[in-house]
Amino acid sequence: MKRVAILISGGGSNMVSLVDDMTGDHPCRPVLVLSNVPEAGGLAKAAARGIETQVIDHTQFPKDRVAFEAALHATLLAASPDIVCLAGFMRILSPEFMAKWDGKMLNIHPSLLPKYRGLHTHQRAIDAGDAEHGCTVHEVTAELDGGPVLGQATVAISAGDTAETLAAKVLPFEHQLYPAVLRRYAQGDRTIVRLGT
Ligand code: GRF
Repeated sequence: MKRVAILISGGGSNMVSLVDDMTGDHPCRPVLVLSNVPEAGGLAKAAARGIETQVIDHTQFPKDRVAFEAALHATLLAASPDIVCLAGFMRILSPEFMAKWDGKMLNIHPSLLPKYRGLHTHQRAIDAGDAEHGCTVHEVTAELDGGPVLGQATVAISAGDTAETLAAKVLPFEHQLYPAVLRRYAQGDRTIVRLGT
């Protein structure tokens, strides 16, 4: 049974999808939900599911990324996860930190990587006049949003779409894609999962 830690910063809808899928014959079980934001809504959802939660508040480490990441790393190590899932985790982790979790860390990003790394992905896809958009689950490497792709879900961009309506189209696919990828990744299967309209 593989131990999974999940890092969040907000509502944690992706965390909930992952946790609720880790039952029965699933090769993983959640062992920790960790947030950098004390009031993250996802913490209560994790606690309600009986999962240990921790907070490493990045505002307590002003201008000291090294100390923040040292606390993050120590807290993660204490849970001895086999896999770490970033799920709506909004802190950029240094290459040094990510190197410590190389081969064990996944992330979900709301774009069809390698397009639109970084923020405001939905608006950028609309502004570019793209016909489609979506989300990507990838292995986390030292390169921001740059690791090997493990899964993608594609949605059509409609004429009247705004960043909000497009995000709302993509989110349900995130909730399908991440659990599907985690099941395979935990069994050493890196076959790319493809979902979408
Ligand atoms: C999602 O849009 C996801 O793509 C991004 O963070 C947003 C919020 O995720 N990574 P969640 O509801 O906190 O899981």
